[in-house]
Amino acid sequence: AHKIILDTDPGIDDAMAIFFAFQSPDIELLGLTTVYGNVPVTMAAQNALTLCELAGKNDIPVTKGVGMPWVGEESTYAHFVHGEHGFGHIKPESPKGKLDPRSSAQFIVDMARKYPGEITLVAIGPLGNLALALRLEPELPKLVKGVSVMGGAAFVPGNLTPVAEANIWNDAHAAEIVFAADWDLVMFGLDVTNDVPFAPTFVDVLAEKNPTLGGFVQESAQFYMDFYSQNREDRVCFFHDAFPIAHLRHPELFELTEGHVRVGTGSLDRGQTVVAPKGTTPSPLWNDANTIRVATKVDHSKLEKLFIDTYAL
Ligand code: BDR
Ligand code: CA
Repeated sequence: AHKIILDTDPGIDDAMAIFFAFQSPDIELLGLTTVYGNVPVTMAAQNALTLCELAGKNDIPVTKGVGMPWVGEESTYAHFVHGEHGFGHIKPESPKGKLDPRSSAQFIVDMARKYPGEITLVAIGPLGNLALALRLEPELPKLVKGVSVMGGAAFVPGNLTPVAEANIWNDAHAAEIVFAADWDLVMFGLDVTNDVPFAPTFVDVLAEKNPTLGGFVQESAQFYMDFYSQNREDRVCFFHDAFPIAHLRHPELFELTEGHVRVGTGSLDRGQTVVAPKGTTPSPLWNDANTIRVATKVDHSKLEKLFIDTYAL
């Protein structure tokens, strides 16, 4: 099984991804490390506990992580996308479970030391916890198997600004640290996640196959679809955060390309993931930057089937 830590800011698509991980027989989820992003970090941590309890996974450690960006003190949230409590119109009951007392970054470091070379860090929120873990343990890149990030927009427009995707924009300095570190990093940006619209029938099927978990996704997704349908004819939403987990389990569903990446930290270019496909630019600014893999294509119908089949288990 793939040992993973999910670094998350739940969030509607985070919930869909977390349940997907719970349901995957070949995924061993070591913990949910939370970070601010869609919602403030205290809410993110409580939401992660709530999702564990809903699924009967009370033994999965949940930690609270960074609550503000690497630089500056202003955190912005996405209640307009994910609702007042992070799950659309749902007001979750307070969870009974307790948080693991460690910070998210400390938990990541502890687990990496415990299982050297075995863990994939799957980051589906802003990247502050991973950046902090790199500062706590500079050898971290050698201690983990790899890093999969939902974030960025390599060759397509952003979703928060014309050039930036929300997770990267939220903590651009942290992202620049994470992308520059010497580990095997795969980026699942809007290039693939915004390419796969999910219709109401999809969440209806999830709910039918799995009334508890799929039902929660279906209910919370109504608000999410209201948001995504504002500027289009059809009613859809996007489950960005589930993509890196799908790739771990079924890499054959994706096409990846190698490139050098940097993250914009200025005012206009904040959070832009500038990717130079390998060997395309003579500029040392990019050619000396870390080489990562960027997802550029995904098989829609196989991906949708994988989600449905896994929720049905
Ligand atoms: C990303 O931003 C958040 O709103 C979602 O949960 C996802 O991680 C998509 O841009
Ligand atoms: Ca997220």
